[in-house]
Amino acid sequence: MADSLFKKYGVSLKTNDILFNTGDDGTEMYVIRSGAVRVVIRSKAGIDKTLAILGPGEFVGEMSVLTNQPRSATAIIEEDAELLVVGVKVLEEMIVHNTEIALRLVRKLASRLVAADSLIQVLLHRDANARVIENLKRLARLHASDDGASARFRVDFEGMAEQVGISVQEAEDVMMKLISAGFVNQDEGDWVISNIADIDEFLNFLRLKEQYR
Ligand code: CMP
Repeated sequence: MADSLFKKYGVSLKTNDILFNTGDDGTEMYVIRSGAVRVVIRSKAGIDKTLAILGPGEFVGEMSVLTNQPRSATAIIEEDAELLVVGVKVLEEMIVHNTEIALRLVRKLASRLVAADSLIQVLLHRDANARVIENLKRLARLHASDDGASARFRVDFEGMAEQVGISVQEAEDVMMKLISAGFVNQDEGDWVISNIADIDEFLNFLRLKEQYR
């Protein structure tokens, strides 16, 4: 991105600055030039649920601009950031004249929909065990080995609890049970699932259990 372009249309923000809040009117989107932006949903109790941490080359705030709806989430600067501000007119021009940008936008929105759908799957379960395991399956799919059989990824108990809407203690209890049952292992701070198919089978068993409860 040329410096002259940034001088004209750029903003520099500091860690913890609020870029916008859920419900604000949104007439601009932002392309991240450097730093990082955290996208969160704030519950009434004031608890944040992180939807994504976005970095250089990614964009945030495009949904309001495209749909003319209020901001669907809050964006907080995670790391000092330089952002290029893109208004409605410019975004529309970019989409009309640059198919590569339009395709990138569509792909990104489609993958957000896939991620949102799999999170709905997680939250459909009433049971904390099933929520954690469904989320492990989701993470395993995201971080699967080339043959798709195993996976290695990193998430702490706080992160897991926040992702699936249970307490940190519940998340820890379930993970410990899964370790003793041999479904997951810990290795140098990573979670390792050596056989994703086992997790699927266990999840089916829990689904049946929930149905007959
Ligand atoms: P907008 O609705 O304008 O404001 C909030 C922004 O957060 C939204 O545009 C997207 O850019 C971003 N956003 C919303 N949901 C997600 C998600 N699930 N993953 C990543 N980014 C999101």
